[in-house]
Amino acid sequence: MIKLIEVLLTAEIYNRFEELKEDDIPKELRKLFYQNGGIRRPLVVKYDMLKKFGNAEEVKKLPFVDFNNFNKQFKITSLDLAAKWFVKNGIDLIKKNPVLAYYFQNFDSVGVSYEDVKREVEPVYSDREWVKLKIEELSKDESYAEMLSLVRVFSPEEINVDFSDVALEDEQLLEVRKIEIAIKEREYLRRIGLTDIGKLLFVGPPGTGKTTTARALSKKLMLPLVEVRLSMITSQYLGETSKNIEKVFEIAKKLSPCILFIDEFDYVAKTRTSDEHAAVKRAVNTLLKSIDEINLVEHGVLLIAATNHPSLLDAAVWRRFDKIVEFPEPSERVRRRIFEMMLSKLDNSYDIDRLVEETEGFTGAEIKLIVREAVLTALIEGRRVPTMDDLMKAIEEMKSRIKLKKSY
Ligand SMILES: Nc1ncnc2c1ncn2[C@@H]1O[C@H](COP(=O)(O)OP(=O)(O)OP(=O)(O)O)[C@@H](O)[C@H]1O
Ligand SMILES: [Mg+2]
Repeated sequence: MIKLIEVLLTAEIYNRFEELKEDDIPKELRKLFYQNGGIRRPLVVKYDMLKKFGNAEEVKKLPFVDFNNFNKQFKITSLDLAAKWFVKNGIDLIKKNPVLAYYFQNFDSVGVSYEDVKREVEPVYSDREWVKLKIEELSKDESYAEMLSLVRVFSPEEINVDFSDVALEDEQLLEVRKIEIAIKEREYLRRIGLTDIGKLLFVGPPGTGKTTTARALSKKLMLPLVEVRLSMITSQYLGETSKNIEKVFEIAKKLSPCILFIDEFDYVAKTRTSDEHAAVKRAVNTLLKSIDEINLVEHGVLLIAATNHPSLLDAAVWRRFDKIVEFPEPSERVRRRIFEMMLSKLDNSYDIDRLVEETEGFTGAEIKLIVREAVLTALIEGRRVPTMDDLMKAIEEMKSRIKLKKSY
């Protein structure tokens, strides 16, 4: 019942105080109010919405609530009465709901600070619905629509990895923390004129966790992720590539705050040796210019580029990143963590020391494949859990695979 009244009160107060913004509504309730155009005043509470949280019939009986049978809408008839009822029954919820906190902060008996409550609520741009609406809006413009089919946009909610799934070196984690704090202190950094922040270059061989880390960052920072591979937007037609690059950066700005993750970053630089020299040069220049014209402090876009071939990058490109984050072949410590993470759910004990020792030079992706192979081998032989032996065989197989790869 309390939850249902929270919905009603939140709508009523939000409608009355124009200074309240979407971000003030707690995420869980926000999801009720998303419509075609977003969250719009007046918020209306329908029978079906309340049904999700409990017995809507009971709500009809309350003296401060009116139910309109015709349009199936609930409405609060006396905010005073409703507020009194809520203080008595739902005081804890006020401390998690900025809309309510805003209204109740003047009540001595409640003792709540709007600012404190607000700080704890997840921002609106972390909602799947918000990202979807933004994309729909952008897609109305044909030139964006085309580009949106070549990039992937994730809302943080849709991302299924986080930092507990990726084993990183201390230096890498430190960079993550610096970004986190830079975002939190955006205003301060702007004031002191430190705007050259928030352009990261992830460098390392395939399968070392670059993409995974970018995604985990999106989840952790609660920022939507715009993911694009440069090979996807590179065109054989003169000038097309440049135009596409510009569009991608524009999309990121429109979705801001967000992370723009550019994968295969060397792709444009790499083609420099080809015949279409002028077109490629132009594309590189556009890329440089676009990087220059975007920044975290002013536009709210965190740029992350990733490459397996740092040596192919132009010096002018290097210079534009304020931080190079290396993703080397994982150290012993990191390999241990990856094995531990992947084997922890299997009901068996393994000689992790040995596994770590035997996988020197293996990437995280290769270790994952080893575990996968061992699990499948066991399953096909009718065993639920792989043995140490299964893992060792998979490692041997992987070794020949790596040798094969290196011989080409
Ligand atoms: N350090 C790590 N910790 C946990 N898992 C890892 C790690 N490195 C790689 N993996 C796993 O390997 C797979 C590939 O990783 P990911 O896609 O992040 O690599 P990448 O560096 O982006 O590779 P590429 O350069 O080919 O794009 C993922 O499934 C990921 O879970
Ligand atoms: Mg990747």
